[in-house]
Amino acid sequence: MNEQLQTIQGAPLFNPLSPDFIANPYSYYHRLRAVDPMHLTPFGFYAASRHADVATILRDKRFGKDFVGRMTRRFGPQVMDEPIYRSMSHWMLQQDPPDHGRLRGLVVRAFTARRVEDMRPRIQAIVDEIIDRVAPRGHMDLIADFAFRLPVIVICDMLGIPEDHREIFFGSSRAGGRLLDPAPLTRAEIDEQNRYNLASAEYFRSLFELRRREPGDDLTTQLVQAEEEGNKLSNEELTANIILLFGAGHETTVNLIGNGLLALYRNPDQLRRLIDDPSLTPNAVDELLRYDSSVQVTGRTTLEDVDDIGGIAMPKGQSVICLLGAANRDPAVYADPDKLDIKRADIRPLSFGGGIHYCLGAQLARIEGEIAISTLLRRLPNLRLDNVDHPDWRQTFVLRGLNKLPASW
Ligand code: HEM
Repeated sequence: MNEQLQTIQGAPLFNPLSPDFIANPYSYYHRLRAVDPMHLTPFGFYAASRHADVATILRDKRFGKDFVGRMTRRFGPQVMDEPIYRSMSHWMLQQDPPDHGRLRGLVVRAFTARRVEDMRPRIQAIVDEIIDRVAPRGHMDLIADFAFRLPVIVICDMLGIPEDHREIFFGSSRAGGRLLDPAPLTRAEIDEQNRYNLASAEYFRSLFELRRREPGDDLTTQLVQAEEEGNKLSNEELTANIILLFGAGHETTVNLIGNGLLALYRNPDQLRRLIDDPSLTPNAVDELLRYDSSVQVTGRTTLEDVDDIGGIAMPKGQSVICLLGAANRDPAVYADPDKLDIKRADIRPLSFGGGIHYCLGAQLARIEGEIAISTLLRRLPNLRLDNVDHPDWRQTFVLRGLNKLPASW
């Protein structure tokens, strides 16, 4: 048994909100995969940690979202009276066919490879402007001062949010990540999320009015027009899915950049390699997504009885979480999985999920990550992280990222 496995020997198999687990989930994942790869957790759902099982579940039509069923079984029926959970129930991310396809179909065109490639010059300009602003200071927090701003500006552009409305979004909290974690939120946390949701809905209603009066080449205009055409999407769905688009691409991309930079600075040989040959950046981003994904988990529920998945029979209504981070380090698929190797061949990480919910923003996130990381390394070649040994991880499990990442040059 390897050293990492021994050090966590006495710990519970699955304790995803403990600081130890959050500091390094991968040693836990290795043990889980070796000891009980389809593990019935104390939360009542199974946790799948093998690559093969995760990839199957994500694509298997017998597994779906059943969001309302899943939430009411876990938290009680009153949960759906909370504005935040009602809003989430309309997200395409939480829908099963046919509603899922209807909602995704309305926005998919804005995310085609071609459309996203066309955004490169704008993304480059945003990154350059962020670096121009901080360069004279000699130090910054790579999360707040660098990674945070890029995805907010990009999604504001895509949604057609006018420049002079944007300041509120730079101050927005990243507390929403807790909603996705398995442990129930406290009353105070739910109240905060309800307030945030209602305030966002109010803002977006005013944006819808603006885009009805002054249509633009943006996603909000497209969706508002679809709503006006009648039976394509309801008003509640419109608001909820705009909020989803805003949130889904934000924290995840901040964390791709933050986790990616931390991994590179913790592996100086790989950092050097990338600085010496920036053409490796696209492959490096895929490897960084595999190595320390900003989304660690996604959930599914059986829509019918399933008699054999990973050696287990599950009745209809059974929830399963897919440990994407564990699948990405499965030695059955990746040789030496704990090694960061930016030249690794044939990576294809499961960090963006799979099947019908495969991340709509995957290509956009990759390009943002590529441009952010390569520009930073080129323009601030003497950059060093102040603390690579004890990073300040956010205490969330599904979304994995750092509170801050101080750096100087
Ligand atoms: C590194 C960055 C990102 C990661 C790791 C990530 C990860 C994921 C994952 C794992 C899913 C699938 C969840 C499931 O199967 O249940 C997903 C779905 C989704 N993502 Fe991303 N995402 C990222 C960036 C983005 C961006 C930039 C956007 C948009 C601006 C976005 C929008 C969405 C949407 C709308 C869905 C729902 C798709 C559907 O249900 O059909 N994501 N993402």
